[in-house]
Amino acid sequence: MNPSASPADTGWFLHDRFGLFIHWGIYSVAARHEWVKQRERITDEGYQKYFDHFYPDLYDPALWAREAKNAGMKYFVVTTKHHDGFCLWDSALTDYKATRTPWGKDVLRPMVDAFRREDLKVGFYHSLLDWHHPQFPVDPIHPQRDDLAYREAHKDRDVRLYAEYLHGQTRELLTQFGKVDVMWFDFSYSRRPYPWGRGKGKDDWQSEKLLAMVRELQPGVIVNDRLELQGDVKTPEEYQPRGWMEVNGQRVMWEACQTFNGSWGYYRDNLDWRAPDELIRTLVDTVSKGGNLLLNVGPNGRGEFEPRAIERLRAIGEWLRVHGRSIYGCTASELTPPPDARFTYNPQTNRLYLHLMAWPYKHVHLDGLAGRVEYAQLLNDASEIHMKVIDPRQEAETITPGGGRPDTLMLELPIQRPAVAVPVIELFLK
Ligand code: GLC
Repeated sequence: MNPSASPADTGWFLHDRFGLFIHWGIYSVAARHEWVKQRERITDEGYQKYFDHFYPDLYDPALWAREAKNAGMKYFVVTTKHHDGFCLWDSALTDYKATRTPWGKDVLRPMVDAFRREDLKVGFYHSLLDWHHPQFPVDPIHPQRDDLAYREAHKDRDVRLYAEYLHGQTRELLTQFGKVDVMWFDFSYSRRPYPWGRGKGKDDWQSEKLLAMVRELQPGVIVNDRLELQGDVKTPEEYQPRGWMEVNGQRVMWEACQTFNGSWGYYRDNLDWRAPDELIRTLVDTVSKGGNLLLNVGPNGRGEFEPRAIERLRAIGEWLRVHGRSIYGCTASELTPPPDARFTYNPQTNRLYLHLMAWPYKHVHLDGLAGRVEYAQLLNDASEIHMKVIDPRQEAETITPGGGRPDTLMLELPIQRPAVAVPVIELFLK
């Protein structure tokens, strides 16, 4: 939805740009993707061992919150319940929750408290699906989708009764944890084709009624686009949009949600980890297109962020410690950047940021900026960058660049690339 049209409090979201997604539950004990129950067609009985062995004895949400803060993240979104139906908080509506596991404690409340202490905004992911609830109809993506006897035995399930549970738990989350800044529902699939039966969507969830309740209980909350209603923010998942996302030709608020390695939940044997520098370039690219990045960590069954996640969070945090003002409060520029570069722009400070994804040899040429820049510096060390406007009538000579457009500004760069993941030049516009 266009930010100005949304009833939500979107100002902080558009300023802060960068958040932490957390996928944590009993699938973290299985340690092979959060869809393990579905992928391996595990029955409730077969899945119970992960409930019975949920004992995150090293869980310290203060450490999680500090890592997120130091990573430069400004909000977090945590899976209160994922598709397997397991709940992190002490819901009155089910026994399938952390307080009934051997751990015996609510793990959501201390997390919310810890992240608030580090001044991060609070977001709740809540799965619309529930592969454990007795009234959630078996459908073509259910773990027991191929078990004909199971499907027959459970064919009278009433999705309206499940919707009551879904709404009831949403009410718990939005009334028991103080101010909630983001409500992140996941996901609707009624428009996807299946060999039999159908996926579920807004009629099953009673999405209009649910959204009205959410807005009534938390008036400023940002709601995503997965109720099969437009919502306040579009949520491209595990891909990088080519530009500012649009709905019906209108630019909308958008947030890319991505993983470090292709799995949302902890996946011990996964080797597909993205490089820290690429993650930083993705953050830059996202903001250069007016978007937010929600980057995921899947804590393990002991309640810890694994070293591979911490390494990446700290690399991003170090880059943001020095370059944060080229991200926070910034958005897309209408100017076209040179090759292998991105622009971000802060309209409040009227500063343009040139992110150099590849370090050019000696010069970079900025079309349209001649006469518009008062001063230029490398952001990492505030060292001056000299600027030149070349007379287009001057032919390029043996050792002097020439030609080009009259409105081109040439920046003179050191040969040595700054020792940072993405060098940034801060341009103070007139
Ligand atoms: C997809 C996955 C789900 C994950 C979500 C995050 O919907 O099914 O496991 O939580 O993406 O956006």
